Amino acid sequence: MNWKSITLLFATIVSSITVTEISAKNVKIDTQNTSLVLEAEKGKKLRHLYYGGKISENDAAALRSASGKIYSAYPDYGMITMPETAIAMIHSDGDMTLDLVVDGISSTHDNGADITTVTLKDTHYPVVVKVNYKTWKDKNVMETWSEITNNEKSPVTLTRFASGYLPIRSGNVWLSSLHGAWGNETRLTEEPLTRGMKVIKSHEGVRNSRFDHSEVMFSLDGKPQENTGRTIGAALCYGGNYKLRIDTDETDSHHFFAGINEEDSHYKLGKGETFVTPPLALTWSDEGLSGVSRSFHKWGRNHRLAHGDTPRKVLLNSWEGVYFDINEKGMANMMKNIAAMGGELFVMDDGWFGVKYPRNNDSAGLGDWTVDTRKLPGGIQGLVDEAKKNGIKFGIWIEPEMVNSKSELFEKHPEYIIKPANRKAKFGRGKTQLILDMSNPEVQDIVFNIVDTLMTKYPEIDYIKWDANMDIENHGSQYLPADKQSHLYIGYQKGLQNTLQRIRAKYPDVTIQACASGGGRVNYGILPWFDEFWTSDNTDALQRIYMQWGTSYFFPAIAMGSHISASPNHQTHRIIPIKYRTDVAMSGRLGMEIQPDDMTAEEKEQTKRAIAEYKQIRPVVQFGDIYRLLSPYDEKGAASLMYVAPEKDKAVFYWWKTRAFRNEILPRITMKGLDPEKEYVVHELNRIDTKPLSFEGKSFSGKFLMENGLEIPVNHKLAKKNETDWSSRVLYLTEK
Ligand code: DGJ
Repeated sequence: MNWKSITLLFATIVSSITVTEISAKNVKIDTQNTSLVLEAEKGKKLRHLYYGGKISENDAAALRSASGKIYSAYPDYGMITMPETAIAMIHSDGDMTLDLVVDGISSTHDNGADITTVTLKDTHYPVVVKVNYKTWKDKNVMETWSEITNNEKSPVTLTRFASGYLPIRSGNVWLSSLHGAWGNETRLTEEPLTRGMKVIKSHEGVRNSRFDHSEVMFSLDGKPQENTGRTIGAALCYGGNYKLRIDTDETDSHHFFAGINEEDSHYKLGKGETFVTPPLALTWSDEGLSGVSRSFHKWGRNHRLAHGDTPRKVLLNSWEGVYFDINEKGMANMMKNIAAMGGELFVMDDGWFGVKYPRNNDSAGLGDWTVDTRKLPGGIQGLVDEAKKNGIKFGIWIEPEMVNSKSELFEKHPEYIIKPANRKAKFGRGKTQLILDMSNPEVQDIVFNIVDTLMTKYPEIDYIKWDANMDIENHGSQYLPADKQSHLYIGYQKGLQNTLQRIRAKYPDVTIQACASGGGRVNYGILPWFDEFWTSDNTDALQRIYMQWGTSYFFPAIAMGSHISASPNHQTHRIIPIKYRTDVAMSGRLGMEIQPDDMTAEEKEQTKRAIAEYKQIRPVVQFGDIYRLLSPYDEKGAASLMYVAPEKDKAVFYWWKTRAFRNEILPRITMKGLDPEKEYVVHELNRIDTKPLSFEGKSFSGKFLMENGLEIPVNHKLAKKNETDWSSRVLYLTEK
């Protein structure tokens, strides 16, 4: 990951751009398999002609004649009748219109990507808008964003500032989107687009993916299919309030807009200032939803995720094992256990800090990041040393953007919290939690120093779990001036990004997990500074199948924290055998979230074997191509997916039974993504059956596996006393 390549809000874009004079012509922006075609004639509107599978120069040149209604590529408000627009502003004289026309086109390169910039100028006001298209050719992903510059004598107010717009032709177009709630994040919704507006938005301020997600897919050939059909994927790369709008008009054409949510965030742009929108990433595939996912995963691993090329360690996190009951003996015991099971990292979660206000529960201590030596007499160094003794790495939990009213930091600096000037603060978790105002540079320094102090004192800290457990519920910055209170949400994210950028510049190697009450920070706006995310606070294996399925639409397994936890599960109270819990966790970044003392010797032994086997398949899971095969949302009684290594010499196939009905015939799954010419040997992992599967050790051609598949037995063959209604399989396919 190159930290410099991340577009920051307000970043100064410096490049050797040469502006080319253009006459009437089409601009074609290609990736390996896709083309975007724009009509960019100087002095005229920038028009969108095409986005889809790659087309020839000849076809591109003749596009206008083959098209129906042609839309502006970045619709501006005031002089057109489109009900929805990408950009709107109030000029310094109060005028509310924009009339942007093409002034020039330029191109440049950035870290292996090509950037085409179309400069638009208003026909009357000195306002310049640069619309950028950045292509990662071999990933088939294009990022688009705009830079809005005010050259008027006084400030203008931006009232709409989308990152991008895409018209989608009428037809049987379906939308796939992700929605949820705490403990039930990233649930998939599929629906046909019908007349009217569909709006997906966030207003949480700090984090943005617990409820709805800023990523969607459009299936252009009717009901979404996993492995067939033309599909567009879109991911807004922003960690704060966003808004996606899909307007289906009177011609049944769909107009897709994505950007920062402008509600309560009107932005005053001073003379000479430039506002940079976050990027909207787009991809297109004719291999269905999974095809889009593969492109996003490759792009994500390579360009929007920290250390996307480094295998993740198998870890044990202390949270569900001990919650706030942190003490030296307990931590040492957990370390010994995870090391014995083959784990590589131990993460101490919440509860380790606070002197005057010890963090014994969630109502005190946030803000005071000093170790509580009553619990940990040897301090952090003692734990780091203990980890080393066990041959594993050590990680630690922090929630640096937050403070409790019961903290020394709050006592000293009540002015640092978010709250309206004339009202009382609103408390969150533990009835005392408050949010530090990241728009304030002094607060940014404090947050930077939390990490800096920890890392300077204990450079061997290998992993940080960065949590954020509150939304902005009371709009008000004690730092921003009265006329810029509407900058709070954007200022918060900008301050957070700056801080993360500083942290990464100084500590490029530490692994950092984004957690926000579970899956609150699963988005490509925040991920560039993080290695992974905590998918959900719900670790129930069955419910995880549904949540991880949705997550995998846009995010690769390498980033998806997936832990084996206790049974009965702490969130759903469901009783699930260790085999099934492990088989689900093994389909993401495997970890554990359990008190090992509560596991039987047999369970520990089984987990040890599974961890060893996971290490074998880790490169395939974490760097392979995903093919989702049978959706749990189809409610056919089972779910299945697989990862295939890029060389197609190895693959891992997962199958999980999702309900138990006697004599129900479950679908036979045909595999995908293999080389039809290659022969693959099948080997079951994490096996518990008394007898091997009938196809254990046998080899089959990729062609056979993809056309016929293997019959997966409905139940496990076990001694009577061990039988349960749960069943799952992990098959490792290696080229013969
Ligand atoms: C919320 C997170 O999602 C949990 O994993 C845990 O870290 C707690 N916070 C700790 O307070």
